[in-house]
Amino acid sequence: MLKSLFLFLCISGCAYAAFSEAQSNLPPVMITYGPWVTTPDIGAVTIGFVTDINTGAGIEYRIKGSDNEWSSRWHTEAGQLISTGNRHAIRLTGLDPESQYEYRIVLFIPPQKQEGDNKFRAQSELRLPRTLKIEDDAFNFRPFSTEETYSFFVVSDLQFPTERRHQILQNYHDTGMKDSRFVVLLGDLTNSIDNIETDILQGIIEKTTALGGASQPHLFIRGNHEWRGLQSDLWTSYFAMPGGSTYAAFRCGDAFYIVLDTGEDKPPYPFTAHYTTANIAEQEFMDSQKAWLTSVVESQEFKAAKFRIVLAHSAPYSHAGRYMSRVVNNLVEDFFTSDAPDNRIHLWISGHTHFYARTIPGTTQAYALSQPIKKFYRDDRYSFPVVTLDGPTFNGPEGDLPTSGLKVAVEKERLFLESIREDGTVFDRFEVLPDGSINDLNKGLSSSLFTFEPL
Ligand SMILES: [Fe+2]
Repeated sequence: MLKSLFLFLCISGCAYAAFSEAQSNLPPVMITYGPWVTTPDIGAVTIGFVTDINTGAGIEYRIKGSDNEWSSRWHTEAGQLISTGNRHAIRLTGLDPESQYEYRIVLFIPPQKQEGDNKFRAQSELRLPRTLKIEDDAFNFRPFSTEETYSFFVVSDLQFPTERRHQILQNYHDTGMKDSRFVVLLGDLTNSIDNIETDILQGIIEKTTALGGASQPHLFIRGNHEWRGLQSDLWTSYFAMPGGSTYAAFRCGDAFYIVLDTGEDKPPYPFTAHYTTANIAEQEFMDSQKAWLTSVVESQEFKAAKFRIVLAHSAPYSHAGRYMSRVVNNLVEDFFTSDAPDNRIHLWISGHTHFYARTIPGTTQAYALSQPIKKFYRDDRYSFPVVTLDGPTFNGPEGDLPTSGLKVAVEKERLFLESIREDGTVFDRFEVLPDGSINDLNKGLSSSLFTFEPL
């Protein structure tokens, strides 16, 4: 829908572009993908979008429905507007957490060649701003606050043809995702990023934008398959977390979230034809992420949180990948093996195995829809439940699903979780209390308790 935003079009009720007088000689520009609202936090959001030509870009925003003057934030680096790229992600901070905002995209169309000072002074039309404003009723958001109760929705592992991926997102949208405060796309959205435009922008973003992603925040978390492909190094230029990397921490209501990048599931084979060839600095990256995580778990925000939730493509246990399990354990075992109240993790949500499971901490048991055929890696040191969502089933056990979704309600005194099929049927349900205790609420549902064989 928003793909056809041409400068010279002005469509009532839909997105439209406005530009100052005396600019009719400017080239047509369109937003080719997005905008998408992402990485929200208390009083903050990021807005990303792609334009068809390289252009400077910014966001103007104000309290929705007000006559306030627009505030603006431009895509800059080291004090200069970035006009040489078509990918833009603009962080807005200092927002009122309780307010709904409206925004519009502002583009600056740089001239082919800048005029000399003398001509600039002599010709007044050269001093007119070459800016273009793009507006739409859907361009609004509400930053997170510390006072809200809400639910969010998670889906993972969408390695399907584009048409099927879009249908999955549509189905989950219709069965609960649309009412979620935010949506988590938990990695492995494609098999490899050989062409980021077709694989991710058309494969995912076109649909999430159409489903409300210009106002409903979506988190794009890197899985191991986003580490792969000829253009996988473009991931952060579209979907970097605040700070520029692929991990982050944020808060919404009583929950504190840690987003982790759990890396590839195979070691790097640098400068070869292997799909991990580009990962020459994966270990350095993990070391940096661990240093960052050290500061996070020492922060007052982490210590004081009522609920602590990890969002990561993989997990330190419930997975059989030897390399990846070692990497993930090395990343978190110094921090998350304690169940001390101010260090407790209440919930870890992951994907990667393509097999639904909800582990029972400290046991070799998990709730699932069928007997796990993959051996689980078990580690008694971790005392939180891991919910692992489904993915495409390749000769999986009968009863296993190709997709599953997870609704998590963050209430005042509990996390309330429901796992659903694509048609919306709930098949598992439980709650986690602030002290870490878990109550199964899945009586009569189709999930059952299975015992797995640990590695
Ligand atoms: Fe994966």
